[in-house]
Amino acid sequence: MDQLLQTVNLQRHYHMGNSVVRALDGVSLEMAEGEFVALLGTSGSGKSTLLNLVGGMDRPTEGALLFRGRNLAQFTSGEMAAHRRSSVGMVFQSFNLIPRKTALENVMLPMIFAEKPPGERRRRAQELLERVGLAGRAAHRPAELSGGEQQRVAIARALANQPELLLADELTGNLDSRTAAEILALLRGLHRETGKSMLMVTHDERIAAVAQRRLYLSDGKIVSEAAAT
Ligand SMILES: Nc1ncnc2c1ncn2[C@@H]1O[C@H](COP(=O)(O)OP(=O)(O)O)[C@@H](O)[C@H]1O
Ligand SMILES: [Mg+2]
Repeated sequence: MDQLLQTVNLQRHYHMGNSVVRALDGVSLEMAEGEFVALLGTSGSGKSTLLNLVGGMDRPTEGALLFRGRNLAQFTSGEMAAHRRSSVGMVFQSFNLIPRKTALENVMLPMIFAEKPPGERRRRAQELLERVGLAGRAAHRPAELSGGEQQRVAIARALANQPELLLADELTGNLDSRTAAEILALLRGLHRETGKSMLMVTHDERIAAVAQRRLYLSDGKIVSEAAAT
């Protein structure tokens, strides 16, 4: 299979006064196109730091981060913006929807930034809402949706510009266990249907079980790896 992502000795250090926090301390990993990978680790192990680097929200201190063979560490700020807009889609624990916009408008927003034609935006946003099971909620604002429904909108929004990689950071962290299971089933279904590459961060082994492969992060280093059983 073709390689989607590779990191080589990836480092991200934060300088705090006189001390240095090595949030990532030499991470080397690979991910193939179409894979569903979970990144596991306790709080503070560096999971979000790594995900934010892959998502183009932040830059490494040292090391290489290859996305389809191109090193993000050397991207211009314009190339980084394009990467965030079109190559990846991100989903967070806190949903991060725009409160004043409807579900449909929230899903259309990334397509406005990508300058997609208006008719196509609406059609695709409707299709995506349907796919995540929210066809009947298109006109609702986030406050008029349950947590699980808000996360479904966020997933639809993350997929709007057909990214090559879906990134999820503790996406079930604010949901009860039954709703969390529904959201994970949705991701698994999307992965089966579309073969979309997915990289999911979680501290919870049960949530990571949805992925094909698990990587364990501890103190900014990958310490072990396991395939799905
Ligand atoms: N902006 C920041 N400034 C300073 N330290 C940070 C910053 N972001 C994260 N850290 C530190 O880096 C380490 C890894 O954090 P993070 O990647 O958020 O961990 P996780 O997502 O696994 O809980 C932690 O020790 C955290 O305190
Ligand atoms: Mg985190």
